[in-house]
Amino acid sequence: MNRAKILTWIPILLVQLVTAGSVQAAADAEAGKVLFDANCASCHGISGQGDGPIAAALTPGPRDFTVGDFQFDADEDGVPGGDADLILVIQNGAMKYGGSPFMAPVPTLTDPQLNDIVAHIRTMKGDEDEDLTAEEEATPITEAP
Ligand code: HEC
Repeated sequence: MNRAKILTWIPILLVQLVTAGSVQAAADAEAGKVLFDANCASCHGISGQGDGPIAAALTPGPRDFTVGDFQFDADEDGVPGGDADLILVIQNGAMKYGGSPFMAPVPTLTDPQLNDIVAHIRTMKGDEDEDLTAEEEATPITEAP
């Protein structure tokens, strides 16, 4: 290959490198929801409000992800609630960071799965209105749609 040909290939290779990297890094909140519903919703609730079927038995209760306030600075960078903090708490359990043993370690999740779950948790913030209150649910439908 002559020099000119090599030079035309370089930008193409660079673009491929950059896009391959971003595809790998992009977390999939939809996939995270499937994992969350299966592994976490029993305590944290489907909508993440900390109101799953087991939640009432727990003190402290499971974190309400619609508030988006996190407690543990697991990676000790001075800021709790970063992606790395959440991932460490999920992998190692909250007890390791001074929290509840009921937030048990889940060491079986892969790195991409952890990123997907965290992406899903991030979508829950401010979503509390999606859940109907008991009153709204009890309101009968009076008009045909
Ligand atoms: C058996 C109940 C239970 C299950 C199942 C559970 N959690 Fe938790 N989780 C808790 C409790 C309780 C807390 C609050 C811990 C505390 O404040 O000490 C918590 C806290 C958290 C926190 C907050 C950490 C912080 O810094 O505030 C995150 C993130 C979290 N859970 C993620 C998950 C994920 C993801 C799953 C599923 C893979 C999961 N939890 C499964 C009970 C549970």
